[in-house]
Amino acid sequence: MNPTRRSVLKVGLAGLVSTLPACATRNGAAGGPSAPLLGFTAVPTSTADAVVVPPGYRAQALYAWGDPIGASAGQPAFRWDASNSAAEQELQAGMHHDAIEFFPLSATRGLLAVNHEYTDDGLLHADGMRTWTAEKVRKSQAAHGAAVIEVELKGGAWSVVRPSQYARRITAYTPMRLSGPAAGSVALQTAADPAGRLALGTFNNCAGGRTPWGTYLTCEENFNGYFVNAGSIPPEQRRYGISPKGAGYRWHEFDERFDAQRHPNEPNRHGWVVELDPFDPQAMPVKRTALGRIKHEGAMVTLADDGRVVAYMGDDERFEYIYKFVSAGKFNPNTREANRNLLDEGTLYVARFEAHGAGQWIALPKTAQALIGTRLAADQAGATKMDRPEWIAVHPTTQDVYIALTNNDRRGADGQPGTDPANPRARNVFGQIVKWREQGGDPAAAKFRWDMFVLAGEDKGFGSPDGLWFDRRGVLWIQTDVSTSVLNQGPYARLGNNQMLAADVTTGEIRRFLTGPKGCEITGVAATPDGRSLFINVQHPGEPASERSDPAAPRAVSNWPDFRSDGRPRAATVVVQRSDGGLIGT
Ligand code: FEO
Ligand code: CA
Ligand code: CA
Repeated sequence: MNPTRRSVLKVGLAGLVSTLPACATRNGAAGGPSAPLLGFTAVPTSTADAVVVPPGYRAQALYAWGDPIGASAGQPAFRWDASNSAAEQELQAGMHHDAIEFFPLSATRGLLAVNHEYTDDGLLHADGMRTWTAEKVRKSQAAHGAAVIEVELKGGAWSVVRPSQYARRITAYTPMRLSGPAAGSVALQTAADPAGRLALGTFNNCAGGRTPWGTYLTCEENFNGYFVNAGSIPPEQRRYGISPKGAGYRWHEFDERFDAQRHPNEPNRHGWVVELDPFDPQAMPVKRTALGRIKHEGAMVTLADDGRVVAYMGDDERFEYIYKFVSAGKFNPNTREANRNLLDEGTLYVARFEAHGAGQWIALPKTAQALIGTRLAADQAGATKMDRPEWIAVHPTTQDVYIALTNNDRRGADGQPGTDPANPRARNVFGQIVKWREQGGDPAAAKFRWDMFVLAGEDKGFGSPDGLWFDRRGVLWIQTDVSTSVLNQGPYARLGNNQMLAADVTTGEIRRFLTGPKGCEITGVAATPDGRSLFINVQHPGEPASERSDPAAPRAVSNWPDFRSDGRPRAATVVVQRSDGGLIGT
């Protein structure tokens, strides 16, 4: 370890301690015991092509698809006609930003880790998908994954630091280590990697998480859509949604590992939680098999009373489950290195929500088979089939856990599961937020008590909750992902563009804080430790713009954030601040 690296670690750990669950009471930071938790003026619903924030706040696009990340000299500029090469894309912001975490370096500098979930290839290439080449596949893969960028606050405004010793891109072909109980097992072995321990890349990284030792967790969600299997699809591939045609990314046409008939174990190497050290650009990312293989939404990490690490995770698909990982070892707050492999050993549980607010965590077998085929193991365990488990948030003082169940229009349909206490609505188009308290308040407990926090709907001003996050004051931030196929239509006709709201979980008040541009979803949220800068992501502005499946599809309905006549909409990280520099939300 060189001296630079050592000092980096020191700052990293100092910064991360200040972002651990704070002991502030709900009124502590808000300026006196009687100050209300929420102090901003609500914004109305919006159909404008803009990010709208309350009076006294400003929002600035900071890091958009195609912006150079500043990893090295020769920073390729974004070309407005999208003619950048794959090699250039590898040094630029990926597409479709999702989860985000802030890792402080000092009071005015920090690292942002950002997921780049997927691509709209109609926008990614100058002529969309009208032609299809190996170079386009490579560019699409280079626009996936994650990024670490360095940001700096100067004169009250944030900017990306270029060049930065930390900046890096993780793509769909970055080598990464498979670790934990399933690593090396037969089902993870391929022709290219007979040892089953070295996977290439991460993609469809949706939500994420952070560990108390200052690493980033990036979670692989709809990995199945990149694979095709034109043959007889085995049951374990079918259970994860591998299909003859995939989701239309067309990677298999020039990269044969995405042919799941020829390479049946390659899909098993995706669907994991990946741990990434943002402070060390040389560190190889690690896929942690102990946390199971599902369509991972995110991994919300907290600590059990005895110091074991607990990660809450949703599997985002209709009728899928909620999981919890509890580590065998304990977090060591004094030595960062001691926590390096904490996520490699432990117990994976799946949740059963019962009547009258009772709930149980059912332990799954610790075999490679159960970790790779986690969904099949959970089926056997009799877990509760939920309405699409999305983000999970843990209250900083009460340790109550909240989960966004975004929607499930097939609940109660012919041949599908009916309603149950935690998923109480048939044809559930609006979704709900459920909360629970672990027995004895200990995140490692085997039982919990649950309750409904809110059934979303027009009367609540929002639907399809997805992102969920508690700030240090205990404000629950809710972000929506209404599908652009129903945005501003039907039951959603009066709810406007996707948005972010703030909830006081004590009073139950939910107040709209931000609305996004046309055709976007709002996702990912992180704050500086002082609570005065909030980073959020605007994903897929302008959708529908895709030519992936339909070359005749209309062009984008948005031109955000650049509004250039020769430009195209770009997903971007937005930083929100108060004009007077005050605490966000008060
Ligand atoms: Fe990528 Fe479940 O949202
Ligand atoms: Ca999501
Ligand atoms: Ca989403």
